[in-house]
Amino acid sequence: MIGRLNHVAIAVRDLAAAAAVYRDTLGAAVSTPVPQPAHGVTVVFVTLANTKIELLEPLGPDSPIARFLERSPDGGIHHVCYEVDDIIAARDRLQASGARVLGDGEPKTGAHGKPVLFLHPKDFLGTLIELEQA
Ligand code: CO
Repeated sequence: MIGRLNHVAIAVRDLAAAAAVYRDTLGAAVSTPVPQPAHGVTVVFVTLANTKIELLEPLGPDSPIARFLERSPDGGIHHVCYEVDDIIAARDRLQASGARVLGDGEPKTGAHGKPVLFLHPKDFLGTLIELEQA
């Protein structure tokens, strides 16, 4: 059911410092910071040959990654995003198998303008999973 790895998201406290690690130390192509107020984050996109890394810094007081950074002050992997061909069919199959979809279960428009859902980490080996319609 899941297809390509779309991105790995890493929560960070200091986006400029994090971008410098990927650009200068690791030698990757990084974007300028992109504020995404609807998602409560500012993002730097790191483009790799086969996938992307997204560096996420909290934006605003209600950022969904603020609590993650309280627990993990050094930052860390926040979620992985897999592509699916049909997000509604994927959701229905997962829910039928007992997996929990976060929120009201309806896809939201994600950071790339495509429908996304998040799956409960307790059902997936302690990893928050984002599904994105391919
Ligand atoms: Co994501």
